[in-house]
Amino acid sequence: MSDILTDITAGVMTITLNRVEKKNSITAAMYATMADALVQAEADPAVRAVVFQGHETIFSAGNDIGDFLNAPPATSESPVFRFLRGISTFPKPVLAAVCGPAVGIGTTMLFHCDLVYAGNNAAFSMPFVNLGLCPEAASSYLAPQLMGYGRAAEALLLGEPFMAEAALEMGLISRIVPPAEVAALAQRQAQKLAAKPLSSLLETKRLMKQTQAPMVAARMAEEGQSFGRMLREPAAREAFGAFMEKRKPDFSKV
Ligand code: COA
Repeated sequence: MSDILTDITAGVMTITLNRVEKKNSITAAMYATMADALVQAEADPAVRAVVFQGHETIFSAGNDIGDFLNAPPATSESPVFRFLRGISTFPKPVLAAVCGPAVGIGTTMLFHCDLVYAGNNAAFSMPFVNLGLCPEAASSYLAPQLMGYGRAAEALLLGEPFMAEAALEMGLISRIVPPAEVAALAQRQAQKLAAKPLSSLLETKRLMKQTQAPMVAARMAEEGQSFGRMLREPAAREAFGAFMEKRKPDFSKV
């Protein structure tokens, strides 16, 4: 079975992270599939909304750490950066159904979704610093804007997780329901959107996003440069090696 499942029903493209045995961590091949699916969804007039979903127990453990170690993204055309540019500029409505941990890009991709529905088991985290990295997906810009600097510093400097209630209060998510109901709610809302005039949806989303769009694009590019460099530096290599060897990282020498 593929690690990414794509389905189009009643005007809604659903993209499912389907690598539960590895906690839906995302490989380069998975980013490529999702980036291509977004290109297809944008071009296909029959698709009027996109839903991202994981599993009732896990949304995503973020980037595959083995990939970070063995095949870090080399250029701005790497699948991860293609996916991030695709989701951040996607013109039609994007929804997400999030249950369980949403780590790293599992959280930062949500900054680019229009409607996020979460299970009461959802736990969001952006532990880039703990991995010797820096924020991506324009989260260094969008997190302080959404959460306020104080809470963004706890999330991005300390790498502390926050739960669904906090995410709701800050406006990262739209509603909390029991995990078993999240996917169905996201589908219902997506189908409501799919029944509305697409031209109005496109124009409304464009207008809502237009002020921050240039800043998001510029910050994402700047973060991508730093992230790409830091992936190859000793702190990150130690963090990834420690994860693979199931031990605590030792940053005393880096
Ligand atoms: N990359 C690669 N493999 C991962 C992974 C990742 N990001 N996250 C989990 N896995 C793998 C584990 O290595 C393990 O594989 P194994 O069964 O072959 O040993 C399997 O998925 C299950 O993970 P495990 O850690 O045992 O599950 P858990 O329920 O105890 O914890 C998480 C779940 C998500 C809290 C935990 O896996 C985690 O913190 N993952 C890393 C998150 C991270 O730092 N991501 C990068 C962000 S930039």
